[in-house]
Amino acid sequence: MNSLDFSSASIAEMLAFKGKEAEKLRSDADNLTDKIFGGNVFLRGIIEVSNICSKDCDYCGIRRSNDKVKRYRMNSDEIKQVIDSAYTEGFRTVVLQAGEDNLMDENIAQIIEYAKLKYDISITLSLGERSEKIYRMWRDAGADRYLLRIETTNRNIFKMIHPDDDYEKRLNCLAILQNLGYETGTGVMIGLPKQTLGDLADDLLFFKKNKFDMLGFGPFIPHRETPLKESATAELDLVLNFTALCRLMNENANIPATTATGTLDVRGREMALRSGANVIMPNCTPKKFREEYDLYDNKLGLSENADDSLARAQKVVKGAGKELLLGVNK
Ligand code: 5AD
Repeated sequence: MNSLDFSSASIAEMLAFKGKEAEKLRSDADNLTDKIFGGNVFLRGIIEVSNICSKDCDYCGIRRSNDKVKRYRMNSDEIKQVIDSAYTEGFRTVVLQAGEDNLMDENIAQIIEYAKLKYDISITLSLGERSEKIYRMWRDAGADRYLLRIETTNRNIFKMIHPDDDYEKRLNCLAILQNLGYETGTGVMIGLPKQTLGDLADDLLFFKKNKFDMLGFGPFIPHRETPLKESATAELDLVLNFTALCRLMNENANIPATTATGTLDVRGREMALRSGANVIMPNCTPKKFREEYDLYDNKLGLSENADDSLARAQKVVKGAGKELLLGVNK
């Protein structure tokens, strides 16, 4: 492979590739991914444990002020049961994700202990901004990984869409997580209002500079009950070029083919897996809750149960010509 120029200007130019140039970029990324992961796709099960959120982010369907959402918080037994069945199905990593619901903090620690004692399983948390004390409590309980998206590295856009958040604070949370020894992941949304290709290039440079273990991103998709309901959705081509560049710039990172990318296009996840992604994250949330974890319109799998979501992910991986690693803690 020829060596690429990863200056901000050149990345922005590559993000706009179409046709043959885009194909070449994505197949270079796919070849590199196969070289590193041997054609294997890692499996992570998402459990959306609560949709209660203290924040009011402009893009998000479960924002505090959306009073059309029926709020839920799974109890510890319900969560443990989902972990039990996920393990039986072959999951060896689960991601506990929620809105910023700090009433769950103690329960989460106890659930992590339960899972780590009983199973050979990795626990990933995606529970938002917390104090160092809470991050440490969860790490001490045995949590392995943490996902906290920066959402955008353009500070003006960050501020515009996050009425409750501070960019520096988010960066500090990521630094704390890395210092505590979590395998740390971040990510962004692609196609936010006012976001330019230059901004996305800077997102990619930010990923590279901070050496994250995981990089998760997808298109911004408007939700009908949010201030950004009239905004446009990103194009799949841009998401795939971003995926390819993300791989080329972060050889060993875990890069999921995300639910948002699968929502944008029925073949979105398959194409992401052929453009540099190496992870798939089916939804394991029980059907009765998942309908309420409605982050953006038409979210993939809202009416499926956990078995359907796994079966569908298996098809996606097969369609991409890769092998899904079931029963392997990777
Ligand atoms: N479109 C795309 N992604 C979204 N998220 C939240 N709302 C949206 C939306 N409207 C993503 C954010 C968040 C993750 C859990 O879901 O990046 O970090």
